Amino acid sequence: MSAPAAASLVSVEDLHTFYGKSHILHGVTLHVGKGEVVGLLGRNGVGKSTTLKSIMGLVQPTKGAVTLESQPIAGLPPHKLARMGIGYVPEDRRIFKLLTVMENLRTGLDRAGVTEARKKELLDKVFAYFPVLGERRDQAGGTLSGGEQQMLAIARAMMLEPKIILLDEPTEGLMPRMVSQIREIIGVLHKEGVAILLVEQNVPMTLEASQRVYIMEKGAIRHHAASKELNVNDPVIQEYLGV
Ligand SMILES: Nc1ncnc2c1ncn2[C@@H]1O[C@H](COP(=O)(O)OP(=O)(O)OP(=O)(O)O)[C@@H](O)[C@H]1O
Ligand SMILES: [Mg+2]
Repeated sequence: MSAPAAASLVSVEDLHTFYGKSHILHGVTLHVGKGEVVGLLGRNGVGKSTTLKSIMGLVQPTKGAVTLESQPIAGLPPHKLARMGIGYVPEDRRIFKLLTVMENLRTGLDRAGVTEARKKELLDKVFAYFPVLGERRDQAGGTLSGGEQQMLAIARAMMLEPKIILLDEPTEGLMPRMVSQIREIIGVLHKEGVAILLVEQNVPMTLEASQRVYIMEKGAIRHHAASKELNVNDPVIQEYLGV
């Protein structure tokens, strides 16, 4: 596999993860460069979410290394990794359904070293990116549509000013219009220099949004390519992702 073009931000080397006795990740190796959008594609159950959870410290790999800016981070708890600059938006979004949109966003702002002025800037920024969240700032999170909840989950991750966001199937189950909006926000984050590891099953969107993609099967990376060198009809896509 060729080396990534950008300086490495997050690196995963030979990761092995088990759930009980089930060996799920069989030596996953991947890299995300600073400010890079990298897709992680694969069919249901191949280990995409487990890879993100292993990076985020939600499951403990039995073997392998995870580094953030060359510092080993395997074994650190999720809240520490969040403070170090790793944002995570899980598959189930996990927003607080009973809290308002504003309260959800504030959970990401209540941390040391953020001035009131900076908090306001960060809130203004997400309301500019996601006007609908501004309109619904006093509404309970649970009353938002699926797409709006996804936006809220991404916006909340942005409050932590991450260096990278691990995005787990952000467009799953969303209407095409919402998929385009998520695609746009990935573009905006990329322009701002935020790296993204994008787990998806939407191949065209991922190829469009990312610079590189990894394709996973049975707990390992089987293929790696520059996104512009692949298209949905490529034999590799058909082999690992075709129906
Ligand atoms: N908590 C768990 N305990 C036991 N097995 C699990 C657990 N979570 C996931 N698995 C199994 O691990 C394998 C990989 O799951 P994972 O969620 O990482 O796949 P995925 O690629 O994200 O799939 P999907 O596209 O369906 O989200 C699957 O066989 C799944 O059934
Ligand atoms: Mg998954």
